[in-house]
Amino acid sequence: MDSPATTMGGLSITSTIEHKFSNNGERQAWPRELHRVFCMQGGDTDVSYAKNSEATACAIALSKPLLHDAIASMKLFRGAESIRIADLGCATGYNTVSTVEFVVENLRKQYEVELSHVPEFEASFSDLPSNDFNSLFQLLLPSFDSAERPYFVAGVPGSFYGRLFPSRKLHLVVSLNSLHWLSRIPEAVVNRQSPAWNKGRVWVHGAKDEVVEAYAKQSEEDLEAFLQCRKAEIVEGGVLFLLMAGRPSLQPPENQLNDEDTRAKHPFIIIDQAWKELVNEGCIEEEARDMFNIPAYMRSIEEIKSAFEKCNGFEIKTIEYLKLIEHSKEKQEDSIKDPSSYGRAKANFVQSGLRPLIEAHLGKIFTEKLFNRFEKKYSEDINLLHKICIYGLIVVSATRK
Ligand SMILES: C[S@@+](CC[C@H](N)C(=O)[O-])C[C@H]1O[C@@H](n2cnc3c(N)ncnc32)[C@H](O)[C@@H]1O
Repeated sequence: MDSPATTMGGLSITSTIEHKFSNNGERQAWPRELHRVFCMQGGDTDVSYAKNSEATACAIALSKPLLHDAIASMKLFRGAESIRIADLGCATGYNTVSTVEFVVENLRKQYEVELSHVPEFEASFSDLPSNDFNSLFQLLLPSFDSAERPYFVAGVPGSFYGRLFPSRKLHLVVSLNSLHWLSRIPEAVVNRQSPAWNKGRVWVHGAKDEVVEAYAKQSEEDLEAFLQCRKAEIVEGGVLFLLMAGRPSLQPPENQLNDEDTRAKHPFIIIDQAWKELVNEGCIEEEARDMFNIPAYMRSIEEIKSAFEKCNGFEIKTIEYLKLIEHSKEKQEDSIKDPSSYGRAKANFVQSGLRPLIEAHLGKIFTEKLFNRFEKKYSEDINLLHKICIYGLIVVSATRK
């Protein structure tokens, strides 16, 4: 069910990461549960998420007509004093603020037109505890200068793979560009005793069957846990709206990416290559690379439907695969004229999401080296500049039964 595409804009390793290995060379427990280390870069530096969320903003824009329809078809809660909405995996920046405003404005209009009573609105912004909630709240202040608050706000720290709200508290929940992040790096892929050890790679794409199975299993468990929690928290007739990275129907999970250009140019592929080069040059220990994997998995529509069926708490109203094209022809021409700026922009974008995670594993110095190599690869490989990456997305709108 393809929908129309859119465009968007020689240090040794030992000094820094030695402490992460025990005396007999065994890897020590590095927190694989991501809620301890994972977050988007806060603040407003060049590598902050707030300054690198153009691609995710485009993904949200692409899904907006479906969000609009989901709101329009939502049952109105006659007599309710307040309508409670939540954005799970909100990060910081305008994406979450503008989405919540869009939801509140649309719901307000609906109540105005269809019922004489307009309820109050309460929005919960939820993300992992390491999220930069301060920057987010500062961003919200200007809209709250007027005498009447457009909506009440709460910050809810915690993992969306667990319970975040009391039972039957929420009327509408959105989670945008977040659910492809797994709760953890699947244990087996970083266990050298396991047949699923993902030696020589840092991601699942193109990996052997056992690795793919371990990722798929983690993804299945995670989505089921997510849905069970939302089933408890959302009132009957409430709406769950999800937008996540995904892969086309029937494309096998070892093939996480769309087409040849995307497979050559996707940031997770380039980071894998950067890592490989540094290992081959003796800059980063092989062990350090082999004990790290990117905890992201692009699900298919079938996998998502199956989790909903098992949960048995929601009726899926819409589920669609959408394609987001990396950039327009004009932007591509600009990149070809100025490859250094393109490389830097790509490196900033990836660091805004992956840096805290990689730094927790590699330490600052080697993380810096890795991202420098990543940037160089994008800015120096002229063939890459002529390719266009397509990001696959899946949108689901479901009603709580
Ligand atoms: C790419 S950002 C998307 C932010 C925002 N929704 C947007 O579309 O711009 C992904 C967000 O998901 C959050 N996230 C990842 N795993 C999570 C989890 N288990 N629980 C809650 N948030 C999580 C990350 O911390 C990050 O803020």
